[in-house]
Amino acid sequence: MPVGDLDHRKLAEAFPVDPSLYNPTHDELNWLKKLTGIEDEKELKEHAIKTQAEGLAVFPYPCLKRFVFTSYKIGKHPAYKDVLALGNDRPGAIYLEIGCCFGNDVRKAISDGYPVENVIASDLEEGFWKVGHKFFRTTQETFPVPFLAGDVFDPSFLSPDTPPAPTSSAPATSTVPDINSITSLTPLQHNVTVIHAAAFFHLFREEQQTRLAFLLGSLLSPLPGSMIIGSHSVLPEEKIKGEIILNQLGRGPLFAHSPTSWRELWIGEGGVFRPSDAKVWAEVKESTFIVPADNSSATKVLGDLGRMRFLMTWSVVRI
Ligand SMILES: C[S@@+](CC[C@H](N)C(=O)[O-])C[C@H]1O[C@@H](n2cnc3c(N)ncnc32)[C@H](O)[C@@H]1O
Repeated sequence: MPVGDLDHRKLAEAFPVDPSLYNPTHDELNWLKKLTGIEDEKELKEHAIKTQAEGLAVFPYPCLKRFVFTSYKIGKHPAYKDVLALGNDRPGAIYLEIGCCFGNDVRKAISDGYPVENVIASDLEEGFWKVGHKFFRTTQETFPVPFLAGDVFDPSFLSPDTPPAPTSSAPATSTVPDINSITSLTPLQHNVTVIHAAAFFHLFREEQQTRLAFLLGSLLSPLPGSMIIGSHSVLPEEKIKGEIILNQLGRGPLFAHSPTSWRELWIGEGGVFRPSDAKVWAEVKESTFIVPADNSSATKVLGDLGRMRFLMTWSVVRI
């Protein structure tokens, strides 16, 4: 369901397209050159600007205006070395990128050695995945990561009826599903070793964020060390509510957890896991990820959303 004209107008006003926002770090620039094969920096920037327009035509996310696809979050996550170790040390350890957009984060993990045959990506919009192939100059044949298009809240795509498993030293199923032949996320329940959700939770209202946590929990392998990690925009105050216009499904109140309420969502009474099953880490830092520091127009136009210049980075790891 597309957002309304008013929302599109507000988003465009608050987050104007601005090529000067293209600003990959030194490491990201080298990584982009390696993956795209484009060595010339001017050409690379032009390629990114052209790709951005194609992505914005799929859905005008503010993070695309900030060229999010020319960077990565997984490589900066404190749990990254554990992710790569799980990929190398645990046979068949499945990595799922949920809300993958162009697939920049899966491409980062694979370029650093995560076994490509164990990686799967999913997003509501197949268009983003296709634009990702164009940007990184790959095809489904040369970059054979399976992609599943679907709404994470659609019960026919991810069953809400399977609860998260308790932590156990035994895998939940004797055979791991073949990620190349599945058509929904449901067969992956209790079988995923690493789930990465970046800039994802902040799209949803409070009750949806709770449902999402349980749904992702249901996908997680029971083996110790399995993890759900990510980062998303929040507000500096505790549990702020306000109107959101960014949600791809069009409407609903904005909701931002604090690290404390985030921990409670995942662990303990009413939470996704028992305290003996998993540990949660979360940290909030100021970040220009979505809203640049000088973007007063975002605050004026979007209210609370415009103040979401704080990033919560977090992990939920089975013990
Ligand atoms: C803000 S983008 C973040 C993209 C990427 N993870 C990143 O950090 O650069 C959010 C992504 O979530 C996807 N998305 C939104 N609602 C979804 C849903 N209900 N189910 C699955 N994906 C969804 C969007 O299509 C979009 O690609």
